[in-house]
Amino acid sequence: MNEKESRLNRKNEKFANNGWDTAQFDVQTWLERAPWRTLRDTEYGVKNNAPKPHPALWEDKLVSEIYKIDLATFLTAERISMSGISKLVSCAPDEASSVFLATQAADEARHFEIFSRRLADFDVGPEQRNEMMKKVTTPEMQKFYDLIAEQVDREDFAAAMLSHNIILEGMAYPVYRYESAYWSVFDPQLSAMIRGAFADEVHHVAYGEAIMRNYTAKGDKTRNTMSRLAKNFRMLMTEVFESTIDHYVGLYQLAADNYMDEIGDIQIFPSRKMRDVTEKEQVEILMREVNLECDKRLARIGLL
Ligand SMILES: [Fe+2]
Ligand SMILES: [Fe+2]
Repeated sequence: MNEKESRLNRKNEKFANNGWDTAQFDVQTWLERAPWRTLRDTEYGVKNNAPKPHPALWEDKLVSEIYKIDLATFLTAERISMSGISKLVSCAPDEASSVFLATQAADEARHFEIFSRRLADFDVGPEQRNEMMKKVTTPEMQKFYDLIAEQVDREDFAAAMLSHNIILEGMAYPVYRYESAYWSVFDPQLSAMIRGAFADEVHHVAYGEAIMRNYTAKGDKTRNTMSRLAKNFRMLMTEVFESTIDHYVGLYQLAADNYMDEIGDIQIFPSRKMRDVTEKEQVEILMREVNLECDKRLARIGLL
């Protein structure tokens, strides 16, 4: 046993413990998982030797358009996260939560920067990017984002956490998993960026579950309010996906069809290849996965 282990008592609590598992959510954990592991030797999470993007991203108008639509859509969600989570740092229920949310705010800011950087790499500057973000936000998506922001503005921590770290971040699981596969041939670097953001979202959801169990365990009226809010979000999520199918799926199908010999072998879902699943079916499968994962998560935190 070295001197550090014998004299310093690392088992003593450093923050007041409110009854949830705080150990995995401190700054030390964040350092070990993000800067020292997933981000080491990378620029924006991408290793120097990662394969370059496909020429179609510059030369094919259709592919370039859907690529930018996707980036702009990621950015709308990351912007909501960055602004919401940074506000929540100041109304968190305990020290461990404030510290965790400060690390999450840094993650969300990084995600926002990464995808903004990527659009700039493809000549979409800040002004045009903001225009695109407005354009890709369907009315249904706006309703969904507004309901999230409303919980933060009311400074209702439990409702805001349910909105951000269970509902919105939970969607990132299937969506980012799908998107990183989707772009794996056209832009392996973007795939790496998405996988990096996905790994962070998994950690954010883990905190969301840990802290939400603390609220729902009380069994008081907070639980009923949460249940109602969760139901509301579930409905809105379906509307968001349906509006996406209506607006964009034709465009994606056209773009994909022209490159099927190159992208057809992508495993877009486990044991399903891109060439065998239409874009419409892809979004429908994705929607089912989002709803399934959401329900599993709601059940785990005692809201279903
Ligand atoms: Fe994020
Ligand atoms: Fe997140």
